[in-house]
Amino acid sequence: MAERRRVGILLSGRGSNMQALVAASRLPDARYDVVIVASDKPEAPGLAWAEGEGIVTYATSPKGRPKADYEAEIERALRGMRVEVIALAGYMRLLSPAFVERWRGRILNIHPSLLPKYKGLDTHARAIAAGDSVAGASVHLVTEELDGGPVIGQAQVDILPGDTPDTLAARVLDAEHALYPAALDRFLSR
Ligand code: GAR
Repeated sequence: MAERRRVGILLSGRGSNMQALVAASRLPDARYDVVIVASDKPEAPGLAWAEGEGIVTYATSPKGRPKADYEAEIERALRGMRVEVIALAGYMRLLSPAFVERWRGRILNIHPSLLPKYKGLDTHARAIAAGDSVAGASVHLVTEELDGGPVIGQAQVDILPGDTPDTLAARVLDAEHALYPAALDRFLSR
């Protein structure tokens, strides 16, 4: 097996997808190591979890400063760990076009809808309101367009009678945890 690729994860909150990616990276045939978990939210629970696992973490807030400064700081942290691929895992901030350009083709995101449906927020409420019978999640390459880059993997779940946005989100999240590591692995095998 070739040398493992160096993946950096950006998150803003809970970090359950990050945990799934880390767990998969610890399997014997994994194609990657998670070498840093960074966040725009110093208080993100996901950061504390990663730290507890002995993973390098980094946090800096974008508040009250130019976005370019904030992103440059995050990028220094990633480059300092020689990150090759960035996985966004619940990173609730739009990356600037300049950042995306510098990392083109090397940033993945997971989004809780069957893209191109329901870009942006409140995906589960919108799927239920539309009367959809299926929902899901997508892993896609990040481009300048919000949730608009090429989709590289999807997982589908049924929307059940009586589902609320929360019950649906929980079912989709379970599917995300299987989807993201598999999609990243496939991406790295190209
Ligand atoms: C996940 O459902 C992910 O798909 C979504 O946020 C949640 C993060 O959960 N991402 C987005 O909405 C990105 N626009 P997690 O922190 O437990 O992985």
